[in-house]
This record gives sequence, structure tokens and C-alpha cells, in this order.
Amino acid sequence: MNLILLGMPGAGKGTQAEIIQKDFDIANISTGAMMREVSRSEGELAEKVQTYLSSGTLVPNDIIVEMLVQRIGQDDCRKGFLLDGFPRNLDQGKALDSANVSIDLVLYLSISEDEIINRMSGRRVHLSSGRSYHVIHNPPQKEGFDDITGEALIQREDDAPEVIKKRLDVYFSETEPLLDFYRNKNLKFIEIDASKSLDEVTESIRQSISN
Ligand code: AP5
Repeated sequence: MNLILLGMPGAGKGTQAEIIQKDFDIANISTGAMMREVSRSEGELAEKVQTYLSSGTLVPNDIIVEMLVQRIGQDDCRKGFLLDGFPRNLDQGKALDSANVSIDLVLYLSISEDEIINRMSGRRVHLSSGRSYHVIHNPPQKEGFDDITGEALIQREDDAPEVIKKRLDVYFSETEPLLDFYRNKNLKFIEIDASKSLDEVTESIRQSISN
């Protein structure tokens, strides 16, 4: 089972990806996490990537596509994989086709812009693992600290209000056209109401994958 999670920034893709990965034992590939890791390394590429992340714009395709295609070729993807954050524009969608990467299911987490602002402003993350919490909807056991490592949680710099706005603009202009791109393909495309509670969204996803 190879699947893609599509949805606005903050729709809950990363949160659900972690659950699906465990439930279905497939590789969880987040290009956002990959890029944050690159940005924490040293050198020219790290600096370049960091400027895109902090401005809320997309990292150019020539940096990200090859990295992603290589990642999909790794052993842990043989049983299946889940793409969280890729593709992000039509060229990336076409690049998957050109690389003969077959996709069985696209899950579109649909949600309103108002709810997105609430989710991203309350998000707290554990930097090294990428685990994501919400101060109200999905709080850690101890406020401000990761449940597994006990390390401090941070607010992502791209969750600042002006960057959230930019990320949403980028979503509407570049990523949203992928919805029709996949609706018109010969694969399963399912829209999930992502405004529901975390458990309800998980249940809808489980059913969509199992049916
Ligand atoms: P990326 O990390 O992919 O960010 P994103 O798509 O903007 O998505 P987010 O991680 O912000 O949100 P999410 O949908 O995962 O929501 P989450 O589960 O955390 O990308 C970051 C950057 O990297 C991009 O801007 C770009 O620069 C670059 N990049 C990445 N991929 C790229 C690509 N392919 N090409 C070019 N550039 C790329 O949930 C959000 C909050 O809501 C959390 O607090 C969570 O606890 C809470 N929550 C989740 N579900 C629920 C629920 N059901 N009810 C209530 N609260 C909930």
C-alpha cells in the first residue's frame, strides 16, 4: 500500500501519519521533516533550505524531488509507504509518475482555514523526532515536554502568524491543483473531514485504508 496524505498545512497530516505508520507498518516519509533535518546540518544547502522554511515557501523541486525518489527506493519502503507533504505542486506529482512510483490511495484531509489557524498557533513539537502536540486538542502528559523523551517542546518558526499566511497562499496556488490531478487518475481518492476530533479522523483513515 503506497499512499499520499494531502491537505492544508496544519490539517493533521503529520499527526495521522505517525498513527498510520504504526497501525499498518509502512514507512512514513515527511518531506517537511526531511527539510528541517537538512536545515539543521551545516553548509550551503542547509542555509538555502532554511530560507525557504522560514519564509513559508516551497523548497525548489530540483532539491527535493531527487531526495524523495531516493528515499522511496530504500528497503523499508518495500512493504509500502506514506507520503506526508509530497507532492506539493503539479510538477512534483508528475515527477512521481515519471519515476514510475505507483500510488494506490490518496487521502485528502479537508478542513477550513479558520480551524487551521487555531491548530497551527497551538502546535508544539519535539524537534528531533518531529512529534507534534497541541496545547488544547492533543496536549503532552506534562505541559511543554515530550511524552517519550521528556525533552522540551518548541513552537515551529513557520507557525508564526505571518508565515502561516504565506504557507496558506502557497497551498492554494501550488498544492490545491493536485486535488483534481489525483481525482482524475485511476486510483482511490478519499476525502476525510479533518475538522473532526483526532480519534474520529484516525478512524475514518483506518476504514479508508482497510476497505
Ligand atoms: P511540512 O512540515 O510538510 O508542513 P505542512 O504541510 O505545512 O504541514 P504541517 O506539518 O504544518 O501540518 P500537518 O498537516 O502535518 O499538521 P499536524 O499533524 O502537525 O512542510 C514545512 C515546509 O517544508 C514547507 O513550508 C516547505 O518549505 C518545505 N517542504 C515540505 N515538503 C515540501 C515539498 N514537497 N516541496 C517543497 N517544499 C517542501 O497538526 C497540526 C496541529 O493540529 C498540531 O498541533 C496537532 O496536534 C493538531 N491536530 C491534529 N489533528 C487534530 C484534530 N483532529 N483535532 C484537533 N487538533 C488536531
